[in-house]
Amino acid sequence: MSAAPILSTAGLVAGYDPGVPIVRGASIAVGRGEIVVVLGPNGAGKSTLIKAIAGLVPISAGSVVLAGRDVTRTPAHRMVHEGLAFVPQTENVFPRMSVDDNLRVAGAVFGRAGLAARVDAMYALFPDLARQRRLDAGRLSGGQRQMVAVARALMVGPSVLMLDEPSAGLSPKLVAEVFAKLVEIREGGVTILLVEQNAKAALAIGDRAYVLVEGRERHEGPAAALWDDPAVAELYLGVRPVGDGGAP
Ligand SMILES: Nc1ncnc2c1ncn2[C@@H]1O[C@H](COP(=O)(O)OP(=O)(O)OP(=O)(O)O)[C@@H](O)[C@H]1O
Ligand SMILES: [Mg+2]
Repeated sequence: MSAAPILSTAGLVAGYDPGVPIVRGASIAVGRGEIVVVLGPNGAGKSTLIKAIAGLVPISAGSVVLAGRDVTRTPAHRMVHEGLAFVPQTENVFPRMSVDDNLRVAGAVFGRAGLAARVDAMYALFPDLARQRRLDAGRLSGGQRQMVAVARALMVGPSVLMLDEPSAGLSPKLVAEVFAKLVEIREGGVTILLVEQNAKAALAIGDRAYVLVEGRERHEGPAAALWDDPAVAELYLGVRPVGDGGAP
């Protein structure tokens, strides 16, 4: 990591039920302006880790630091004001609300001032959504619904955007579109922490990656190096087809 971390956890322990830790001492760091990927097998605790950072899962030990401030156990609704936005894997849009209203509701936490301008900024970033602004979000394609979810998160002007498997259920073409948009968002100055099952696509846009196993980071390194590490690939990313070597 070249830049100073904007988000880090140290020895984070978190879980849903008292005495049942799911995240078991995870320490990760995300540099300002980086795209950092968290990979790992099913049930490793990836979702729990980012939900704990977001203030949605109880933390029993360790710390979360965001932009130099200790935000451990800050409730989710306050995290928005700390500069953190989170796109959950499911139920990340209001399906019976128009695209426009989805964005307005997301931005309303900061009041009505400037709301229209922020909605317009999202339509500039997501031109497809502008054309469908009056359509219910639930009627959009999977890829476009995911774009609405990301746009909702960006409505609060976060410094860090966390996403839980934004590629889930999307065709390869749509995955490419969503991930290209994440690169564009990063170029706009937003730091990204990305949890993914789709290791190849995620490592292709990521700067660095962690492999989480049983609630703790087991491997860390530049994204391309992680993909090339046969031990990591075989153990945690699924064995690659023969001939599919090389950096993503
Ligand atoms: N709401 C919940 N209440 C209790 N236990 C939960 C809850 N959600 C997840 N768990 C448990 O926490 C563990 C880790 O789940 P988590 O969803 O964090 O894993 P993951 O790495 O995101 O997996 P996946 O790749 O399948 O998304 C699992 O054993 C799961 O059963
Ligand atoms: Mg998960």
